[in-house]
Amino acid sequence: MFGFKRKYNVVQSGLLRGMRDIHAHILPGVDDGAATATQSLEILDYLAQLGFREVWFTPHVMEDCPGNTPEALTRQFEAFRTRYAGPLSLRLSSEYMLDALFPDRLQTGLLPLGDKQHLLVETSYMFSPPDLDSMLLDICKAGYTPVIAHPERYGYMSAADHQALKEKGYAFQLNLMSLSGYYGTYARRVGEQLLEAGSYNYIGTDLHHLERYQPMLDSFKLSRRHLDLLAQLIENNNQL
Ligand SMILES: [Fe+2]
Repeated sequence: MFGFKRKYNVVQSGLLRGMRDIHAHILPGVDDGAATATQSLEILDYLAQLGFREVWFTPHVMEDCPGNTPEALTRQFEAFRTRYAGPLSLRLSSEYMLDALFPDRLQTGLLPLGDKQHLLVETSYMFSPPDLDSMLLDICKAGYTPVIAHPERYGYMSAADHQALKEKGYAFQLNLMSLSGYYGTYARRVGEQLLEAGSYNYIGTDLHHLERYQPMLDSFKLSRRHLDLLAQLIENNNQL
C-alpha cells in the first residue's frame, strides 16, 4: 500500500554508478569551486566512491575570472592531472557565462564539452543578458550546440522562455541536487516541472565543495519515476 509514494536513496539505488559527470568545479584555484589540490582530490575520491566513471572539469569562464583562458586552464589541468592517480577519467571543458566578453571568447577559442562540439553556457541567476538570443545563435553559427546549464536556477526565466529555448533546439542540463532543494524551493519546483516535461537532455553535479553537498547527496531520496527519468539523462551524458 502507498507504494507509489515510496522514495529511494539515490546513492544506494546505484543510479550514479558508471556516470559521466559533465559539470563540476574541481580544477583547484581557478574559480569558486575547489580552492586547493587537496580539496580537489577529496572531491574526486568521493565521486569515485559513488561509482562515477568520468568527470569533466568545467571551470567558470566569466568577467570575474579573467585568467581562465583555454591555454591557462589547459596548463593547470595537465599539471593537476599528474597528481591524480585514482580511477576516474578526467576531461577539461568550461562553463561559459554569457556576459559582455563572451562574443570575444567565441572568436578567440573555447573548450567544448564532450566529443561532439557542445558548449556549456550559463547566465546570471537574476537577469537575462539583453542579447541572449543572438549569443546563442552565434554559438550555433560557430558550430557548437549550446547546453544551457541549470535552467531551473534562473529566476527570470518563465515557462514560456524555457519552451522557446527548447524549440530553438538548445539542450538543457539539470543539476542533480536541484531536485533535493539544495538550491532552494524555486529551483526544486522548476527542476521537477522541466524533468517531468522531458525538457532536460543532460545532468551534472555542478559540484563546488563537499561540505554541504556530500551530506545532502548521501541522504537524497527520489521516487522511482524520477530515478528512471534521471537514468535516461545519465545515459544521454554518455552520448555527448
Ligand atoms: Fe557550474
